[in-house]
Amino acid sequence: MMNKQTILITGATGNIGGGAAVALAKRGARVVLLGRRLETLEARADSIRAALSEARIEYQDTDIATLVVDFSDMKSVRLAAAEAMNRFPKIHGLILSAVVLKQNGPNILPSGHELMFATNVMGPFLFTQLLLERMQQSDGLVLHVVAPHHKEIDWDDLESIKNHKTGTAFNRTKTCNRAIAAELARRYARKISSVAFNPSFIIDKTDPELRKRWPSGFMGFFWKVMTVLIAKPPAVAGEPLADLMLSYRDSSAINGALFKLDKRVEKPDKAMNDEVLGKRLWDELVLLTGLTAE
Ligand SMILES: NC(=O)c1ccc[n+]([C@@H]2O[C@H](COP(=O)([O-])OP(=O)(O)OC[C@H]3O[C@@H](n4cnc5c(N)ncnc54)[C@H](OP(=O)(O)O)[C@@H]3O)[C@@H](O)[C@H]2O)c1
Repeated sequence: MMNKQTILITGATGNIGGGAAVALAKRGARVVLLGRRLETLEARADSIRAALSEARIEYQDTDIATLVVDFSDMKSVRLAAAEAMNRFPKIHGLILSAVVLKQNGPNILPSGHELMFATNVMGPFLFTQLLLERMQQSDGLVLHVVAPHHKEIDWDDLESIKNHKTGTAFNRTKTCNRAIAAELARRYARKISSVAFNPSFIIDKTDPELRKRWPSGFMGFFWKVMTVLIAKPPAVAGEPLADLMLSYRDSSAINGALFKLDKRVEKPDKAMNDEVLGKRLWDELVLLTGLTAE
């Protein structure tokens, strides 16, 4: 197929990104899997190839590509963005689905930033910014995989370093994700489209690394019970994500929207609706990620 869509997927080795990658590959897109370790990425690429073969879908080697990036490290993000620009002349879509939940923080990186804030907010923001121009050439669509948790931002402690509680710090990063999804939609309307996607509760129970991904203590116990009782498999989020990415001829029709699986959420989201929050956070992130220095 000459006009395959090239879709970059962060968190492609995880629950939601993995589900999206398979669903997109099955629909004939070229998928680029992003994660920290080449070995894990190659294993995910192999599993996608196996799924395509099983479904008797033809593909070429270049249809499933990998790209190593560590979103907690802005140097790595810049290198990965430069590599993406070199390797992919057209980038039609970006799915942001990388996440970390780390307890016993604040976990301060050598850069001085807090691990959850850097990984969940700064890295994806910087990566998106560095690809925006390329994506504009293809009327690109950025899909932000979000969680509905809301926690007010503390502007004196944006990264939750001074006052750190795992849940609060994590939920603030999730609030930031929705605020940035909406702010990108406002700032780049008619150039690219930006959509937030709430995946519901999804766990890949076949993942051999699953035990390692669970937090410890009560939080871990809670997740285990919830997984057994109500978690759905990755395809439940992957299929509607792939549809959102590929089905709209004119994705500006959904710019700024929030979806829960295949349903557009009409009720306004607090963080997405807050234009003051969106603008201020965007400006702070431009400074924090060093974008003005260019
Ligand atoms: N699963 C759910 O039920 C659920 C519900 C609501 C919202 N969400 C949201 O959906 C998104 C994805 O969740 P998930 O359940 O798919 O997560 P997950 O299974 O834990 O996967 C996390 C992904 O993030 C990547 N990652 C972690 N640290 C990274 C780093 N420093 N640099 C680059 N990549 C990194 C991991 O890749 P490597 O470890 O291979 O590098 C992995 O692919 C998150 O934003 C989450 O809040 C999930």
